[in-house]
Amino acid sequence: MHFDPANKAFFESLTNFKPLMNERFLEGIKHIVPSVPVFEEFLTHVRRHLLLHPHFFDARTTLANAMAQFAFNTGYILDVTDEETEQLQHLGTSDEDLAIFSCYKPLHERGITPDDLGTRPAIKELIRTQVEAPNRLKNTPIISLTAIDTQSTAVQEMYESFPYPTWKTISPELEAKRWHQAKRNQEMEGHLADRKIKILIAGCGTGEEAISFAAIFPRAEVLAIDLSRNSLAYAIQKAQECGIENIQFRHADILKLEHFPERFDYIVSSGVLHHMVDPFLGWGILRGLLAANGLMKIALYSRLAHRHILKAQAVAKAHGYTDIKVFRKASPMLLDPETRQSLFMLGDCYHLNMYKDMLFHVQDHVFSIQDIAAMLQTLKLKFNGFQLNTTVNENYSKQYRYDLNQTDLDNWNDFEIKNPDTFRSMYMFWCQASS
Ligand SMILES: C[S@@+](CC[C@H](N)C(=O)[O-])C[C@H]1O[C@@H](n2cnc3c(N)ncnc32)[C@H](O)[C@@H]1O
Repeated sequence: MHFDPANKAFFESLTNFKPLMNERFLEGIKHIVPSVPVFEEFLTHVRRHLLLHPHFFDARTTLANAMAQFAFNTGYILDVTDEETEQLQHLGTSDEDLAIFSCYKPLHERGITPDDLGTRPAIKELIRTQVEAPNRLKNTPIISLTAIDTQSTAVQEMYESFPYPTWKTISPELEAKRWHQAKRNQEMEGHLADRKIKILIAGCGTGEEAISFAAIFPRAEVLAIDLSRNSLAYAIQKAQECGIENIQFRHADILKLEHFPERFDYIVSSGVLHHMVDPFLGWGILRGLLAANGLMKIALYSRLAHRHILKAQAVAKAHGYTDIKVFRKASPMLLDPETRQSLFMLGDCYHLNMYKDMLFHVQDHVFSIQDIAAMLQTLKLKFNGFQLNTTVNENYSKQYRYDLNQTDLDNWNDFEIKNPDTFRSMYMFWCQASS
């Protein structure tokens, strides 16, 4: 992102890259994506030099190996000039050239297969992540539970094209430990601990939440469904890596579960209903699957906290942008400083697919607390509380000290108007069957 035009000339003039050849930097960019525009701009130039000026580097393959992991992890979000595109055509098939190529595109596009692992030790890590792991996902068998409704196909296609979110690792033991230590989770979900309950994760995506719940409630039977087979494949692989066995992952559409015979003690649906044509219809179907006194955890976009995203979406639409990369590059010039600032502090801005999910989704809705209150009432669900960091709960209790349980949605509406970023990471709340 060219927030400061002076950066470009400075980064272009760099010729000494020795300081980057240290373990911390190389390992760091393999695993971490800082939410810092100028760092991204710096890496864009380092990659450009790697391709165009080989004589600046002593250990080009080593740096390219790390840079290629960064490129893969960010969905190839870095800008590419015409000069780079032209130069890519001239790369050969040496390990060094393949490492440089994979800073721009995945290696399978150069005909590399898992069989090359044994013969190319200098780029074996890249072959593992860019060729072998995606191959394994493609071959993961997925069991179907329902058909997919035509209303859901646009969203299904979107998440087939990129399993979301592409998380790396969690520790089941740590998840369970953290849950036991968090007072809020105990208050809301403690009554379900150590019981043989049934949990439905509706729209499990790539499985992080499902795996976490399966670890927290080891005696539970977890059913995790999603529209996207590719996301489910990712989730299945991760569950195997984590040694989690109490989840069944199934290909299914919430809309087709209306007559499903099972009832669930706990239903979790995070960031899913707001991507349905009619979120209320989806929520109603899930409500029908809830056991008597069953618990639900729902997460929905807040209109107020989403205001900068809504603004950026409106700007992209008004200017007719359809290519996400082109819009991202132009956005610093198009967006007002406040919108630009608040977007670029979000981690989702630094991964192409996350960015697409945030700004160019095929379908999303936003809500207010009043909308949620109305839906809860119609669905006969009792509001049990938001999941927030404790500072917010403390601030709330200073202002509304008589609402001891913090469940008065009129107060929360008032609180959100005064603090519009409260629900930046969605309205995440528990509710319970009330009759
Ligand atoms: C933004 S992702 C969230 C994934 C996961 N809940 C999480 O928080 O990481 C939304 C997911 O909902 C799934 N989804 C959307 N509509 C659905 C439906 N009607 N039935 C099942 N899954 C659905 C999508 O396929 C996608 O994987």
